Amino acid sequence: MSTVTTTTPAVPRFARRMQGVSNELASILALSAGSGLISFAGGLPDPRTFPVAVLEELSGALLRDDPAVALQYTPTPGLPGLREAFRDRLEQTDGHRPAWEELMVTSGTIDAISLLARALVDPGDVVAMESPTYLGAIDAFRGVEGEVRGVPLDEEGIDVAAFEQLCRTAPPKLLYTVPDHQNPTGITMSEERRRRLLDLCREHGVVVLEDVAYRELSFTPRRPPSLWSIAPEVVVQAATTSKTFFPGVRLGWAVGPAPVIEQMVVAKQNSDQCAGGFGQRLLEEYLRGGHMDPQLQRSNALYKRRCELMLASLETHLPDGVTWNRPGGGFFIWLTLPDSIDTVALARRARDAGVAFVPGRPFHPDGTGLNTMRLAFSLADDGVIDEGVERLGALIRSAMEAQ
Ligand SMILES: Cc1ncc(COP(=O)(O)O)c(C=O)c1O
Repeated sequence: MSTVTTTTPAVPRFARRMQGVSNELASILALSAGSGLISFAGGLPDPRTFPVAVLEELSGALLRDDPAVALQYTPTPGLPGLREAFRDRLEQTDGHRPAWEELMVTSGTIDAISLLARALVDPGDVVAMESPTYLGAIDAFRGVEGEVRGVPLDEEGIDVAAFEQLCRTAPPKLLYTVPDHQNPTGITMSEERRRRLLDLCREHGVVVLEDVAYRELSFTPRRPPSLWSIAPEVVVQAATTSKTFFPGVRLGWAVGPAPVIEQMVVAKQNSDQCAGGFGQRLLEEYLRGGHMDPQLQRSNALYKRRCELMLASLETHLPDGVTWNRPGGGFFIWLTLPDSIDTVALARRARDAGVAFVPGRPFHPDGTGLNTMRLAFSLADDGVIDEGVERLGALIRSAMEAQ
């Protein structure tokens, strides 16, 4: 007779590089789930913007006419047709056409960030970024054991004096920035700030990663030039179609100096090897068919209306002592509460009251920002925005009165 001994499975000794990485992104996405919850948490596009009818037509045509390409593996830098369509788009939007070897297709921006991190950042290398900034980027650079340093922001974007000081004391190898309708603050960097920042990066030999996730989600047609169009010799621009097309195909581009893109392609060979072919062919046909700009117009009208509704509700329901910005695009409004209010605790109480938002602390590389919070207006139905903000206003007021 054999005896069966049961043992508790041993927890493996996880890699050191995992220690600095939080799972706060997953917790944030979990906050947006739950029936009956009014969610201002995740920065997700509204499914109403997904171009279902056009996709149905294009998918049928691809399966009928081009299955050998659409359903096959693709070259690591992307299918030639989509690379060409992206180059055309950049010429149209940024006024500058990249050379063939300066552009690759990525599986979305988080892919571009981690490819550049792996290509460029050794353990201990300083990576500068706005504080607060996109949490996925903080985690990606910590995941390669980069030393992440936050640089403060004001209403014109990154504080260049503080960045210059960092360049003198702990020179960064890389600067990660979201210049347009930033996540989480909604701030857009002014043109003057862009030019000063790029001068500093040239002077100190800093590579810039420009994340343009919200650039095309602007409520007005005017926008400052992209960092890449000003300084293509030091900037890698990472773009995503997650918010403009739909995120169910993970796609985007990285455009930058050819030697950097070449190394990112090598890094991609060791990760997912290529972005999915079906999505690439769909997106190419979508762009070639002229569908992107009309979709963007519809999406931006929807997000602008939601943003205005939320701003009006904030005026009505929030107590004195709370401040927020008025974004010109993107998905987010950023709130600053009195210093004594802990928004992590407030988020738990808000969830019990049936409303979700993201506390600001995780967006700060140095763990500050406890009195800040992010509200996403992108996914909340028009009809629930006022109710959700009213509930938040009541919670904030009672937290302030309890101080
Ligand atoms: C600033 C920023 N960059 C990148 C991403 C992720 O983009 P993707 O879906 O292409 O990985 C997000 C998503 O929230 C974001 O806010």
